[in-house]
Amino acid sequence: MARILSILVGLFFTVALAWSFGKGAYTQITEPPAATAEHEFHLHPKELHLASDGPFGKFDKQQLQRGFQVYKEVCSACHSLSHVAFRDLEQLGYSEGQVKTIAAGFQVPGVDPTTGEANTRPGTATDYFPKPFANDIAARAANNNAIPPDLSLMAKARHDGAAYVYSLLTGFQAQPAELLKEFPDSKTPAGLHYNPYFANLNLAMAPPLTGDGQVEYGPGNPKPTVEQMSKDVSAFLVWTAEPKLEKRNQTGFAVVLFLIFATVLGYMSYRNIWAGKKH
Ligand code: HEC
Repeated sequence: MARILSILVGLFFTVALAWSFGKGAYTQITEPPAATAEHEFHLHPKELHLASDGPFGKFDKQQLQRGFQVYKEVCSACHSLSHVAFRDLEQLGYSEGQVKTIAAGFQVPGVDPTTGEANTRPGTATDYFPKPFANDIAARAANNNAIPPDLSLMAKARHDGAAYVYSLLTGFQAQPAELLKEFPDSKTPAGLHYNPYFANLNLAMAPPLTGDGQVEYGPGNPKPTVEQMSKDVSAFLVWTAEPKLEKRNQTGFAVVLFLIFATVLGYMSYRNIWAGKKH
């Protein structure tokens, strides 16, 4: 009886699965999804190789400092970095004094000690990066009705994060003629910018990096081309999203070594225990 019951239950699930698959395939054939510009012209991120890639990845601090410089001088006008405190920058190789100077260059929310009214004051090492806009309404008003997202976790929030940011920054271009021919209604609306790496192809962010040398790098660094600045700021955003990446890699490596050691030990004790026992 139990056997028949289990066969029936199994049969029920098999039929249900086959039915839903068949139905899906039928709709796909009879009503194929409409071709859209997003579907045909969206591109996957370009290749980007960073020192922090892979299980043995380490941060290239020189590059992170350059990336920070790009964030500070360009992106911070619109994007916050709310999860990062100024003192965290010491991990990039800045001294305590340099961190204090950097912090003091930002205005953070404060309170007037005599009246108790909200005001702003220069940042200190323990403050977090301030928001560039007072609130979302102000952010939208200044950015064509879009809010520039916080960048702290952007490298984790998007698939292929660092490569995506790099592609986005270097991907602004004119709308391809074929797109307009095929989808005349998909013209980039006024105030938006065509970028095939953005999911819906039209981005409210104007190209932030437009000219080589927009940020001046110190001696001993590569030329600040748009390409290089985009790579550097992407590398920096990998750090902001996961500052403990190196530590995680090291721990993972130690754990794997230990597991190999434990396996060898287990095998040896197994041999030892069964040594001399006849089959
Ligand atoms: C003038 C303001 C401005 C500046 C400067 C700016 N951005 Fe943006 N950014 C925006 C706005 C607005 C959006 C939202 C776009 C949208 O949703 O259409 C955005 C969106 C983004 C996104 C998210 C895209 C997504 O998938 O949602 C990333 C990543 C980004 N910016 C990176 C940067 C970097 C890196 C810099 C500095 C090199 C920078 N931005 C400078 C305004 C700006």
